[in-house]
Amino acid sequence: MTKFSRIGFILAAAGSAVGLGNIWKFPYVTGEYGGGAFVIVYLLAILFIGLTVFIAESYLGQRSEANVATTFVKTSKSKNEKWKFAGFMIFAGLIILSFYSVVLGWILNYVIISFSDLPNSSKLAGETFTNLISKEIGTQILLHSIVAGSVIYIVLKGVKDGIEKINLILMPMLGIILFGLLVYALTLDSFSKALSFMFVADWSKINEDALLAALGQAFFTLSLGIGTIMTYAASLPKKANFVKSSIYVALVDTSIAIIAGLIIFSFLFEAGAQSAAGPGLVFISLPVIFEQWGTLGNVIAVSFFVALVFAGITSAVSMIEPALMFFIERFNMTRRKATVICGSVFYSLGIVALLSMSTAYGDNLTFFGKNAFDWMDFITSSVSMPIAAIVTCVFLGYFVEKQKLQEAFTNHVPVAVFNIWYILVKYIVPVAIALLLLNKLGIIQ
Ligand code: PHE
Repeated sequence: MTKFSRIGFILAAAGSAVGLGNIWKFPYVTGEYGGGAFVIVYLLAILFIGLTVFIAESYLGQRSEANVATTFVKTSKSKNEKWKFAGFMIFAGLIILSFYSVVLGWILNYVIISFSDLPNSSKLAGETFTNLISKEIGTQILLHSIVAGSVIYIVLKGVKDGIEKINLILMPMLGIILFGLLVYALTLDSFSKALSFMFVADWSKINEDALLAALGQAFFTLSLGIGTIMTYAASLPKKANFVKSSIYVALVDTSIAIIAGLIIFSFLFEAGAQSAAGPGLVFISLPVIFEQWGTLGNVIAVSFFVALVFAGITSAVSMIEPALMFFIERFNMTRRKATVICGSVFYSLGIVALLSMSTAYGDNLTFFGKNAFDWMDFITSSVSMPIAAIVTCVFLGYFVEKQKLQEAFTNHVPVAVFNIWYILVKYIVPVAIALLLLNKLGIIQ
């Protein structure tokens, strides 16, 4: 099996982690929950829960050097074949990818809009966005096809020549664009306002929903619960320090979310716009602001949406890879055949997702009050990913030899670090995630 270099792994895992979750979702969720206090809860969720599961997945992948299903069987005490069912989590990747590709398609559309006429009023901006998702089916299918085609093209080339290479190119470019945008934001009067919005805590805004949102976000942004990190870590060189690599990735991911937040809130406050605009924040609020800045606004708009595309593409390729490795290894498929199968699945599901939001077909694709797009999001983020994380923690806490785990950790870090991680993985994290899951499913409130 061709492996990443160590830095290749860190870049690829960071490429996976840094995505729409950081630049689109984190700022709008932070805005909705009022800023500072939410950011603190989020940082704690990353540090204690996200990082614990991230290290768990990295350990498992590096240890087994195999696909997710085989990883569980191979590393369990009993070597029981039944553990292969833990491989269910790879399907969540295909489902997320299907609607993620549609959203990336919208962003491509905004790259194009940014070159020419940005909307000059909130009303117009709202209409542009609503029209795109509810009426322009052909455009959306075309954009989704471009994104899906690019993802398929990249993964067909394999881990080293496809995934590692694309991250090697796009991640530094993303870094440069974000740095440029941050420097621009720093010149605005509102930067200090953005800083205090994000770091001065107003605890009155924090309720149970906010805690759950922070935990869910920590999870999604670190690409946990679908086997991505496990699969990438299977290509991590055997001697590499998996704990340190995990910490680097979490640091990069968190810094980029914070930087994206600072940039976006500086822009919003500069224009006197609302911070709690929800999912439309980058699609509706920002374009109007960019428009007011004239040609400079066009340049900033293009840079911003291109950054989102780069961040999103490196995440998208990481969503399909667990399924590919699974089919290649367990069913002896060629990479090409696995890609054709998984590619067709996510491509078709993506079309269902986008049709389910259109005025023309929405009703037919709405079940129990949720359209297909929202169902795909719900089944993955609220059901499959938390269950996968619980399974992973319980597995490591109770079905893997502690001795072996401890050895692997203490090769790289002091035993105290292992002890803390072990307590988290065995007792605390599974309970915290179970609470999240039960609450999301409406079983407890
Ligand atoms: N972490 C990615 C983001 O923030 C999304 C993702 C989830 C990627 C799960 C891979 C696996 O956008």
